[in-house]
Amino acid sequence: MTGTLEETQVRAMFDRIAGLYDRMNTVMTAGLHHQWRRRAVELAQLGPGARALDVATGTGDLAIALADRLRGDGEVVAVDFSERMLELARAKADSLPIRFESANALALPFADDEFDAATVGFGARNFSDLDQGLREMVRVVRPGGRVVVLEITTPRRAPLSRFFGLWFDHLVPALGRAAGDAQAYSYLPSSVRRFPSADELAAVMWRCGLVEIRYWLTAGGIIALHVGVAR
Ligand SMILES: C[S@@+](CC[C@H](N)C(=O)[O-])C[C@H]1O[C@@H](n2cnc3c(N)ncnc32)[C@H](O)[C@@H]1O
Repeated sequence: MTGTLEETQVRAMFDRIAGLYDRMNTVMTAGLHHQWRRRAVELAQLGPGARALDVATGTGDLAIALADRLRGDGEVVAVDFSERMLELARAKADSLPIRFESANALALPFADDEFDAATVGFGARNFSDLDQGLREMVRVVRPGGRVVVLEITTPRRAPLSRFFGLWFDHLVPALGRAAGDAQAYSYLPSSVRRFPSADELAAVMWRCGLVEIRYWLTAGGIIALHVGVAR
Protein backbone atom coordinates (compact mmCIF):
# COMPACT_ATOMS: atom_id res chain seq x y z
CA MET A 1 0.00 0.00 0.00
CA THR A 2 1.39 3.44 -0.88
CA GLY A 3 1.14 6.71 1.07
CA THR A 4 -1.51 8.01 -1.28
CA LEU A 5 -5.06 6.75 -0.90
CA GLU A 6 -8.39 7.87 -2.29
CA GLU A 7 -10.71 9.52 0.22
CA THR A 8 -13.07 6.54 0.21
CA GLN A 9 -10.14 4.22 0.94
CA VAL A 10 -9.00 6.42 3.85
CA ARG A 11 -12.50 6.36 5.33
CA ALA A 12 -12.79 2.59 4.89
CA MET A 13 -9.38 2.08 6.48
CA PHE A 14 -10.30 4.11 9.57
CA ASP A 15 -13.66 2.35 9.85
CA ARG A 16 -11.72 -0.93 9.80
CA ILE A 17 -9.03 -0.04 12.36
CA ALA A 18 -11.27 1.98 14.72
CA GLY A 19 -11.35 -0.78 17.34
CA LEU A 20 -7.54 -0.99 17.37
CA TYR A 21 -6.83 2.71 17.12
CA ASP A 22 -6.56 3.80 20.76
CA ARG A 23 -4.51 0.80 21.83
CA MET A 24 -2.11 1.24 18.90
CA ASN A 25 -1.66 4.94 19.77
CA THR A 26 -0.77 4.09 23.34
CA VAL A 27 1.68 1.37 22.33
CA MET A 28 3.30 3.37 19.52
CA THR A 29 3.78 6.54 21.58
CA ALA A 30 4.27 4.97 25.03
CA GLY A 31 1.23 6.97 26.13
CA LEU A 32 2.84 10.32 25.28
CA HIS A 33 0.13 11.28 22.80
CA HIS A 34 -2.09 12.65 25.62
CA GLN A 35 0.67 15.08 26.59
CA TRP A 36 0.96 16.30 22.97
CA ARG A 37 -2.80 16.80 22.79
CA ARG A 38 -2.75 18.89 25.99
CA ARG A 39 -0.06 21.06 24.41
CA ALA A 40 -2.20 21.44 21.26
CA VAL A 41 -5.09 22.59 23.47
CA GLU A 42 -2.87 25.18 25.18
CA LEU A 43 -1.93 26.56 21.77
CA ALA A 44 -5.61 26.99 20.87
CA GLN A 45 -5.80 29.61 23.70
CA LEU A 46 -9.46 29.09 24.51
CA GLY A 47 -11.04 31.73 26.70
CA PRO A 48 -14.21 31.40 28.80
CA GLY A 49 -17.26 30.55 26.67
CA ALA A 50 -15.12 29.65 23.64
CA ARG A 51 -16.36 27.50 20.75
CA ALA A 52 -13.78 25.03 19.51
CA LEU A 53 -13.83 22.68 16.54
CA ASP A 54 -11.79 19.48 16.36
CA VAL A 55 -11.45 18.26 12.77
CA ALA A 56 -10.79 14.60 11.89
CA THR A 57 -11.46 13.85 15.54
CA GLY A 58 -11.26 10.07 15.21
CA THR A 59 -11.96 8.48 18.60
CA GLY A 60 -12.21 11.97 20.07
CA ASP A 61 -9.13 12.32 22.30
CA LEU A 62 -8.29 15.87 21.19
CA ALA A 63 -11.95 16.94 21.46
CA ILE A 64 -12.00 15.50 24.99
CA ALA A 65 -8.83 17.44 25.86
CA LEU A 66 -10.50 20.63 24.53
CA ALA A 67 -13.62 19.96 26.61
CA ASP A 68 -11.47 19.28 29.70
CA ARG A 69 -9.88 22.69 29.23
CA LEU A 70 -13.23 24.48 28.87
CA ARG A 71 -14.72 22.74 31.95
CA GLY A 72 -18.25 23.29 30.72
CA ASP A 73 -17.75 27.00 29.96
CA GLY A 74 -17.85 26.79 26.17
CA GLU A 75 -18.63 24.32 23.42
CA VAL A 76 -16.70 21.69 21.51
CA VAL A 77 -17.82 20.40 18.13
CA ALA A 78 -15.90 17.47 16.65
CA VAL A 79 -16.16 16.04 13.13
CA ASP A 80 -14.90 13.00 11.27
CA PHE A 81 -16.01 11.08 8.18
CA SER A 82 -15.51 7.62 9.69
CA GLU A 83 -18.75 6.56 11.36
CA ARG A 84 -17.01 3.81 13.29
CA MET A 85 -14.44 6.22 14.77
CA LEU A 86 -17.29 8.59 15.72
CA GLU A 87 -19.22 5.79 17.45
CA LEU A 88 -16.22 5.09 19.67
CA ALA A 89 -15.68 8.82 20.30
CA ARG A 90 -19.30 9.28 21.38
CA ALA A 91 -19.08 6.32 23.76
CA LYS A 92 -15.84 7.62 25.28
CA ALA A 93 -17.04 11.20 25.72
CA ASP A 94 -20.45 10.14 26.99
CA SER A 95 -20.76 12.64 29.83
CA LEU A 96 -18.87 15.52 28.20
CA PRO A 97 -20.45 18.48 26.35
CA ILE A 98 -19.04 17.58 22.93
CA ARG A 99 -21.14 17.48 19.77
CA PHE A 100 -19.82 14.81 17.39
CA GLU A 101 -20.88 15.15 13.77
CA SER A 102 -20.18 13.26 10.60
CA ALA A 103 -18.51 15.62 8.11
CA ASN A 104 -15.77 15.82 5.53
CA ALA A 105 -12.92 18.11 6.59
CA LEU A 106 -12.63 19.36 3.02
CA ALA A 107 -16.20 20.77 3.06
CA LEU A 108 -17.06 21.66 6.65
CA PRO A 109 -20.80 22.16 7.27
CA PHE A 110 -20.27 25.38 9.24
CA ALA A 111 -20.59 29.08 8.53
CA ASP A 112 -17.61 31.42 8.24
CA ASP A 113 -16.08 32.61 11.54
CA GLU A 114 -18.21 30.26 13.71
CA PHE A 115 -15.38 29.10 15.98
CA ASP A 116 -12.73 30.65 18.20
CA ALA A 117 -10.27 27.87 17.35
CA ALA A 118 -9.94 24.75 15.23
CA THR A 119 -7.60 21.84 15.88
CA VAL A 120 -6.56 18.79 13.94
CA GLY A 121 -4.52 15.95 15.49
CA PHE A 122 -2.85 13.34 13.29
CA GLY A 123 -5.54 14.01 10.69
CA ALA A 124 -4.08 16.58 8.26
CA ARG A 125 -1.70 13.93 6.89
CA ASN A 126 -4.73 11.98 5.72
CA PHE A 127 -6.46 14.84 3.89
CA SER A 128 -6.61 14.14 0.17
CA ASP A 129 -6.10 17.90 -0.33
CA LEU A 130 -4.12 19.48 2.53
CA ASP A 131 -4.62 23.09 1.37
CA GLN A 132 -8.37 22.62 1.08
CA GLY A 133 -8.58 21.07 4.57
CA LEU A 134 -6.57 23.92 6.12
CA ARG A 135 -8.50 26.58 4.19
CA GLU A 136 -11.72 25.14 5.57
CA MET A 137 -10.39 25.32 9.13
CA VAL A 138 -9.32 28.92 8.56
CA ARG A 139 -12.69 29.80 7.03
CA VAL A 140 -14.72 28.63 10.04
CA VAL A 141 -12.43 30.32 12.60
CA ARG A 142 -13.06 34.01 13.38
CA PRO A 143 -10.34 36.54 12.60
CA GLY A 144 -7.87 36.44 15.47
CA GLY A 145 -8.80 32.84 16.34
CA ARG A 146 -6.30 30.00 16.16
CA VAL A 147 -5.74 26.97 14.00
CA VAL A 148 -3.61 24.22 15.56
CA VAL A 149 -2.09 21.26 13.72
CA LEU A 150 -0.58 18.33 15.66
CA GLU A 151 1.17 15.91 13.36
CA ILE A 152 3.93 13.36 13.02
CA THR A 153 6.89 14.72 11.10
CA THR A 154 10.01 13.13 9.66
CA PRO A 155 13.15 14.02 11.65
CA ARG A 156 15.87 15.31 9.33
CA ARG A 157 18.98 14.75 11.43
CA ALA A 158 20.78 11.65 12.68
CA PRO A 159 20.59 9.86 15.07
CA LEU A 160 16.84 10.51 15.36
CA SER A 161 16.29 10.00 11.65
CA ARG A 162 17.84 6.50 11.95
CA PHE A 163 15.72 5.65 14.99
CA PHE A 164 12.65 6.99 13.17
CA GLY A 165 13.41 4.75 10.16
CA LEU A 166 13.68 1.73 12.43
CA TRP A 167 10.62 2.56 14.47
CA PHE A 168 8.34 3.62 11.65
CA ASP A 169 9.41 1.42 8.77
CA HIS A 170 9.89 -1.78 10.77
CA LEU A 171 8.42 -1.66 14.27
CA VAL A 172 5.10 0.08 13.47
CA PRO A 173 4.24 -2.24 10.52
CA ALA A 174 5.21 -5.25 12.69
CA LEU A 175 2.89 -4.01 15.47
CA GLY A 176 0.17 -3.55 12.84
CA ARG A 177 0.68 -7.14 11.63
CA ALA A 178 0.52 -8.42 15.19
CA ALA A 179 -2.64 -6.39 15.85
CA GLY A 180 -4.26 -7.71 12.67
CA ASP A 181 -4.05 -4.81 10.19
CA ALA A 182 -0.75 -4.85 8.35
CA GLN A 183 -2.02 -2.63 5.52
CA ALA A 184 -3.11 0.30 7.68
CA TYR A 185 0.10 0.36 9.65
CA SER A 186 2.29 0.30 6.57
CA TYR A 187 0.20 3.17 5.14
CA LEU A 188 1.03 5.18 8.30
CA PRO A 189 4.82 5.56 7.70
CA SER A 190 4.37 6.30 4.01
CA SER A 191 1.74 8.95 4.73
CA VAL A 192 4.17 10.62 7.14
CA ARG A 193 6.99 10.59 4.60
CA ARG A 194 4.95 12.33 1.92
CA PHE A 195 3.65 14.97 4.38
CA PRO A 196 5.40 18.39 4.28
CA SER A 197 8.30 19.03 6.65
CA ALA A 198 7.63 21.37 9.61
CA ASP A 199 8.96 24.38 7.65
CA GLU A 200 6.96 23.45 4.59
CA LEU A 201 3.78 22.99 6.64
CA ALA A 202 4.26 26.47 8.12
CA ALA A 203 4.44 27.81 4.54
CA VAL A 204 1.28 25.92 3.56
CA MET A 205 -0.53 27.36 6.59
CA TRP A 206 0.49 30.86 5.55
CA ARG A 207 -0.70 30.23 1.99
CA CYS A 208 -4.05 29.07 3.44
CA GLY A 209 -4.66 32.37 5.23
CA LEU A 210 -2.93 32.08 8.61
CA VAL A 211 -0.48 34.57 10.09
CA GLU A 212 1.87 34.58 13.10
CA ILE A 213 2.66 30.94 12.43
CA ARG A 214 4.90 29.18 14.94
CA TYR A 215 5.83 25.60 15.47
CA TRP A 216 7.50 23.37 18.04
CA LEU A 217 9.07 19.98 17.60
CA THR A 218 8.90 17.46 20.41
CA ALA A 219 9.58 13.76 21.06
CA GLY A 220 13.04 14.17 19.56
CA GLY A 221 11.75 15.92 16.44
CA ILE A 222 9.12 13.30 15.53
CA ILE A 223 6.08 15.33 16.57
CA ALA A 224 5.30 18.84 15.30
CA LEU A 225 2.81 21.29 16.80
CA HIS A 226 1.94 24.22 14.55
CA VAL A 227 -0.27 27.18 15.37
CA GLY A 228 -1.42 30.12 13.26
CA VAL A 229 -3.83 33.01 13.69
CA ALA A 230 -6.73 33.46 11.28
CA ARG A 231 -6.87 36.81 9.46
C1 LIG B 1 -5.02 9.14 12.53
S1 LIG B 1 -6.69 9.51 12.88
C2 LIG B 1 -6.59 10.84 14.03
C3 LIG B 1 -7.72 10.85 15.00
C4 LIG B 1 -7.65 11.87 16.13
N1 LIG B 1 -7.68 13.24 15.65
C5 LIG B 1 -6.48 11.68 17.03
O1 LIG B 1 -5.85 12.69 17.37
O2 LIG B 1 -6.20 10.56 17.41
C6 LIG B 1 -7.18 10.35 11.42
C7 LIG B 1 -8.67 10.61 11.35
O3 LIG B 1 -8.90 11.51 10.27
C8 LIG B 1 -10.13 11.18 9.69
N2 LIG B 1 -10.16 11.82 8.37
C9 LIG B 1 -9.24 11.73 7.39
N3 LIG B 1 -9.60 12.48 6.33
C10 LIG B 1 -10.77 13.08 6.68
C11 LIG B 1 -11.64 13.98 6.01
N4 LIG B 1 -11.38 14.41 4.76
N5 LIG B 1 -12.75 14.38 6.65
C12 LIG B 1 -13.04 13.94 7.91
N6 LIG B 1 -12.26 13.08 8.59
C13 LIG B 1 -11.13 12.66 7.98
C14 LIG B 1 -10.15 9.67 9.69
O4 LIG B 1 -11.43 9.14 9.53
C15 LIG B 1 -9.54 9.38 11.05
O5 LIG B 1 -10.51 9.22 12.04
